[in-house]
Amino acid sequence: MSSGWSWWIIGLIVFNLGLTFFLFLWAPRARVPVLPDGTTGHVWAHGVLREGMHRLPAWWIVMSLSMYVAAFGYFVLYPGFGDRAGALGWSSGKELAAATTSNDAKLDPVLTRLAAMDVEAVARDGQAQRIGERLFVDNCAACHGRTGAGNPLLGAPDLTDGEWLHGGGGPDITMSIRDGRTGVMPPWSALGDATVKDLAQYVLSLSGRPHDSPSAAAGGQVFKSTCSACHGPEGKGNPQLGAPDLTDAVWLYGGTKAAIETSIRNGRTGRMPAWRPRLSDDEVHVLAGYVHHLSHRDDTTSR
Ligand code: HEC
Ligand code: HEC
Repeated sequence: MSSGWSWWIIGLIVFNLGLTFFLFLWAPRARVPVLPDGTTGHVWAHGVLREGMHRLPAWWIVMSLSMYVAAFGYFVLYPGFGDRAGALGWSSGKELAAATTSNDAKLDPVLTRLAAMDVEAVARDGQAQRIGERLFVDNCAACHGRTGAGNPLLGAPDLTDGEWLHGGGGPDITMSIRDGRTGVMPPWSALGDATVKDLAQYVLSLSGRPHDSPSAAAGGQVFKSTCSACHGPEGKGNPQLGAPDLTDAVWLYGGTKAAIETSIRNGRTGRMPAWRPRLSDDEVHVLAGYVHHLSHRDDTTSR
């Protein structure tokens, strides 16, 4: 705080305490003219209410005085009187630092214990699940949803279904979280609208959904030459490229005909941010275990 502001605040405090002190001295001596009927003569609400005169109750005076005295004690002990630190040296920053240190002291041994285990074992550990859930809700839920069920509007995949874009082994999940992932599906509008529609029919047929057979057959020809490089000849996807399996019932962007046509026509770019800059390796490890747990819920050792 600059010294100008500090003096301004000190001035305000001194003025207010001084004014209050003056009121304490003046009020008992103040003479208010009272009419013979015991009122001041002030009339309110068209004569319905008249203002009377009564002494302040003793308990009220005692309470106000003690609060007044306590204010001095507060300014001596705690920060508040301009930029003075206060005799106790308390500050909210120090309190936070102390809480953080004591929390870290509790958490560090747990994170160290978990760091020595592989992701699959962390996934089964009850204590890791609780820490992981916290980290997940704080950092991941905005896109993947609180339960990890994903969000087709963002292309954030469901993490609970056991289907993986980039692989579901411990090291794959760790890498997805630590380094981030980008899935690039190029746009194919240049193929023409009729071909895009044929391709969408073929994609629908891959997961056994209702489709127009002749159109799907035509789309299948184009798929072999154009799409199979990434999605595989049978449309089963490729985790090296993050190209999704198109034969399952799992959809990044929702499985409606319109969503599929949009994916093909305009392309899609799903971005999973890298967490290395924000989370420690130990935290990423616990999160990887938690994400693994989301699709293996029955496997838990209690702790
Ligand atoms: C800004 C939105 C966003 C946030 C926040 C986010 N993710 Fe993601 N995540 C995505 C998207 C989008 C993808 C899909 C990337 C792609 O299309 O290849 C993804 C993919 C993943 C994958 C790979 C899934 C697979 O099928 O291979 C994992 C694992 C994952 N996220 C975990 C997390 C965790 C853990 C966090 C929190 C630390 C997190 N994500 C936070 C958007 C997000
Ligand atoms: C360069 C590799 C590549 C090629 C070629 C490619 N795709 Fe993709 N495709 C992807 C990737 C990667 C994604 C996931 C995008 C994301 O993560 O946001 C994807 C997503 C999709 C989706 C959305 C799936 C969902 O779950 O919502 C559809 C549909 C699709 N592709 C169909 C096709 C068709 C049809 C073709 C051929 C015309 C094709 N792709 C060609 C890489 C490719």
